[in-house]
Amino acid sequence: MGPEVKKFEEEVSSYLGINYAVAVNSGTSALDVALKCIGVGEGDEVIIPALTYIATGNAVLYNNATPVFADIDETLNIDPSLVEDKITEKTKAIINIDFGGNPSDYSRLLKISREYNIPLIVDGAQSFGSEYNGKKCCTHGLINTTSFHAAKLLTTIEGGMIFTNDEEIFQKARCIRNQGETGKYYHEYLGNNYRMTDILAAIGNSQMDRIDRIIEMRREKAHYYRENLKNVEYPKELPNTKSNYFLFVILVDERDKLNHYLNRNGIETRITYPMPISEQPVFKKYSRGERFPVAEEVSRRVLSIPLHNKLSREEQDYIIEKINAFLG
Ligand SMILES: Cc1ncc(COP(=O)(O)O)c(C=O)c1O
Repeated sequence: MGPEVKKFEEEVSSYLGINYAVAVNSGTSALDVALKCIGVGEGDEVIIPALTYIATGNAVLYNNATPVFADIDETLNIDPSLVEDKITEKTKAIINIDFGGNPSDYSRLLKISREYNIPLIVDGAQSFGSEYNGKKCCTHGLINTTSFHAAKLLTTIEGGMIFTNDEEIFQKARCIRNQGETGKYYHEYLGNNYRMTDILAAIGNSQMDRIDRIIEMRREKAHYYRENLKNVEYPKELPNTKSNYFLFVILVDERDKLNHYLNRNGIETRITYPMPISEQPVFKKYSRGERFPVAEEVSRRVLSIPLHNKLSREEQDYIIEKINAFLG
């Protein structure tokens, strides 16, 4: 950690419009730091969406807490009305994600967080640069995290960051990423080596002047898909939101057949995700047989099709033609 890391933290926090940023070596580490900052531990419960990338849940287990799943709604994000049902006296935090970059219903999630006095942790690994009511995502929670993994819009190849407006949390996060060190070789917290290197921060800094253009290009291509694809459904987008389209997600009944057909025609796809996190072997015991019908249905119908800023119009037309031909 040197001047490039410091610069990267300053540039990214000013881009997002939040006071403090702490760079770490992955989005997963950022989540672990966030939970440690509020002292999540054994006996605590943390509410997470039933459909998310595995890291959201793993961070809860790293802290010996119990994940409690809440189903998603048609935005593919955690359903705020179901979050309330999951709150008990053991609930220590709520973690939401913005699925594929599509912003969650922050006004409802924050109302619940305030009413029950339970911190909202935003796992914004997928929503860097998205907006909710004119405010950038990765800023609405008490603590927010993001990922700079190679597949992300802004990348340090591997990396992540923690954002907050709370100075105490900021100071604690800085210590936790560096072995919990609060004075020279003095460690008040259990931390880890989650430091970002200057070399990777420099890679991040080199992209800051074009991040808005990257988002704009993705949004243009996403709109082109939406104008031209036929017979597909999309996740619901809330009014006054702007997605970065980290994923371009379609929902179709014959997902597996379409997926194989596209792959056979040279089109790479992702099934994000093939099952609710509650069904993953690592998490199954925590769901105690509870079913999450929306997450289950989405995991049967969801498909992410190619979207990146260098995707050409010709390539996009080919993808559209194949999907429309398959779906008749
Ligand atoms: C929702 C979510 N949370 C956490 C992560 C973890 O980020 P990283 O791969 O940087 O550890 C990801 C990665 O894509 C993610 O999609």
